[in-house]
Amino acid sequence: MRKRLIVSAAAGALALLLTVPASAAPYTPGTPGIGDAYYPNAGNGGYDVSHYDIRLKYQPATDELEGTATILATATQDLSRFDLDFVLGVKEVLVNGRTATFAATGESELEITPARPLAKGSPVTVVVRYAGKPGEVERGGYSAWLRTADGGVAANEPEGSAWWYPSNDHPTDKATFDVSVLVPDGTQAISNGILTGQSSRAGWTRYNWRQTKPQATYLATLAIGKFDIRTDTTPGGLPVVTAYSKDLGDNDGAARASVERTGELVDWLSGYFGEYPFASVGGYVPEVPTGYALETQTQIFYSPAQFSRGANTSVVVHELAHQWYGDSVSVQRWSDIWLNEGFARYAQWLWSEHENEGTAQELADYVYASYPAGHAFWTVKPGDPGADHQFAGAVYDRGAVAIQALRNTVGDEAFFRILKGWPAERKYGNATIQQFQAFAERVSGKPLGALFETWLFTAAKPAADSAGVPATSAAPAGATGLAPSAESGRPEPKSWKRIQETNAVHEHEQGRAQGHAHGRAR
Ligand code: ARG
Ligand code: ZN
Repeated sequence: MRKRLIVSAAAGALALLLTVPASAAPYTPGTPGIGDAYYPNAGNGGYDVSHYDIRLKYQPATDELEGTATILATATQDLSRFDLDFVLGVKEVLVNGRTATFAATGESELEITPARPLAKGSPVTVVVRYAGKPGEVERGGYSAWLRTADGGVAANEPEGSAWWYPSNDHPTDKATFDVSVLVPDGTQAISNGILTGQSSRAGWTRYNWRQTKPQATYLATLAIGKFDIRTDTTPGGLPVVTAYSKDLGDNDGAARASVERTGELVDWLSGYFGEYPFASVGGYVPEVPTGYALETQTQIFYSPAQFSRGANTSVVVHELAHQWYGDSVSVQRWSDIWLNEGFARYAQWLWSEHENEGTAQELADYVYASYPAGHAFWTVKPGDPGADHQFAGAVYDRGAVAIQALRNTVGDEAFFRILKGWPAERKYGNATIQQFQAFAERVSGKPLGALFETWLFTAAKPAADSAGVPATSAAPAGATGLAPSAESGRPEPKSWKRIQETNAVHEHEQGRAQGHAHGRAR
């Protein structure tokens, strides 16, 4: 191991002598993290990925996953070495066609030393051959591969990718994806985008999926199992792919009655957010015990639990809203999560209003009144919740109240121009909350610093006379329950319970979002 590194370092030094002027800065290793304070090891430094080609074979009976990932990247510094984020066993790595040395380091790092160093700006092709049983690979007692009776699913945030493909696992490095999966006949494989081909030979079927628009790594998904896959097009010509596990039992009807409305709901949301940014849309419902959904790009992951009390179009609206707010425009750092969850929640409030189940203002009033000033709810700052609270209820609900406060401050006309203008302004990119604030100030012509500070960056309940405060006054004393209730003295909007089911997930179910922050932060 040590010897190999020395040999490759010597080869690297030789290549350096031959190709680089003596005055050039030395080639250095890329950092093992991209610099996100919430997840110091997430992503990597030194290169930028443009495309992932992921070729897999999966055997549901044994959970054996074999893969070859071909990664197209560009070096962004003179690189002697770089990392990928990955947890499965690696058999071989090639960099630009030459065998590279590699080592598993840290919790989920694959450290790769190419035979020849990589000059800044040069194209890099990395091939990683690997195999493993993803359901058995745990980090901090957690596996991101959700095993099902007939296969498994990778869908989690902020991490899940490392259980099925090696990547630069951070939302700031987006890429296009081709995912090709070989499974036994009778089993289906689902990933993002369009199903471009399907062919059977000798008892195995290959499914080819293609995502042609830039996609963050956590928004790539893989599901294997027995699915009923349906393809359709919206009246506007957008391809729709939906899939349902054949094991949904009593939830089957409600799941279909919700997810089959994807085309209608994407058209409705386009009225608020502008043109839909991707080339297809859809969703799938595997038979998993989890309670959350995930806005996996164009191919949304839903949990059957969300349909266990009947149809739930609200969760479909939430995940579809993320296609604009989260997927096309992604967080710059994970602390910017309000740009995803606040707006996806607010879309549910707009849908509630449309369905006559409570207006956005009524929902904001209800949230505001439900939690008294001393309640822990107000200690989470939606604008910087911390990795431990990245998906806390306050990021969603206080986050959406913040958006109502913005609406009340700038007025409907400017507000809806902001809501539609932002996804166009930052299409396929990344952004911070500060950049959103600057955009909203530019569109509305109003200074919004105090509003953002009060609603997003203060660990206390905003005073009743704060800018944009909801119509109601402070909650009556005695409302101390964790969940909002009749104690608040305000009527519960009809849509309230359905909306809350979007995150019918206990904090401990959040896995990495929780355990990981402890494991990884210094
Ligand atoms: N972004 C997801 C949503 O739509 C939340 C995922 C939370 N992750 C988790 N493992 N519970 O709300
Ligand atoms: Zn969400």
